[in-house]
Amino acid sequence: MYEDIQEVLFTQEQIRARVAQMGAQIAVDYADRQPLVVVSVLKGAAVFMADLVRAIDLPVEMDFMAVSSYGLGATSSGAVDIVKDLSMSIEGKHVLIAEDILDSGLTLDFLVRELSSRKPATLEIAALLRKRGTQKAELSCAYVGFECPDEFIVGYGLDYAERYRNLPCIGALKPEVYQ
Ligand code: IMP
Ligand code: MG
Repeated sequence: MYEDIQEVLFTQEQIRARVAQMGAQIAVDYADRQPLVVVSVLKGAAVFMADLVRAIDLPVEMDFMAVSSYGLGATSSGAVDIVKDLSMSIEGKHVLIAEDILDSGLTLDFLVRELSSRKPATLEIAALLRKRGTQKAELSCAYVGFECPDEFIVGYGLDYAERYRNLPCIGALKPEVYQ
């Protein structure tokens, strides 16, 4: 897998340290906001969510959604469909969306609108990565792990054509792999 990586942007150790910090901050912020439901957006955010919830020293419920916005390619289609919905009601709960990467922001913009309509007590976003200069939707992210360059990023849950999700670090894919 590593031969397709142009540059490692964040090592396993850097990710571990940053996710631990994010979890600690979330535990402080949500100490008096219960119940807390962390919603992850499959499949990319599953790895991040698994580490994040274990860094939050509070009772946490977990639920999953799957949306399609990218297909198998490397460019955003803008169209978002719910492929798998939450398994429980979030009404009156404090919802934190765990997302892998904020690129155009269109996926999260859609999710925020959709989940807001279900009357959660609060709704916030924790994004592991945010690409610099690519956001088309105005979104306020309460927690951002790392800012990253506008390249094609893989690893730690992020894929290209379903590959590289199990890479322990985060890296930029060599352009010749996706061009
Ligand atoms: P957005 O709607 O453009 O913000 O993109 C949202 C989704 O596209 C993310 O949740 C990822 O699943 C995927 N995505 C965006 N950029 C990348 C990337 O660089 N590598 C892998 N997946 C990406
Ligand atoms: Mg995703």
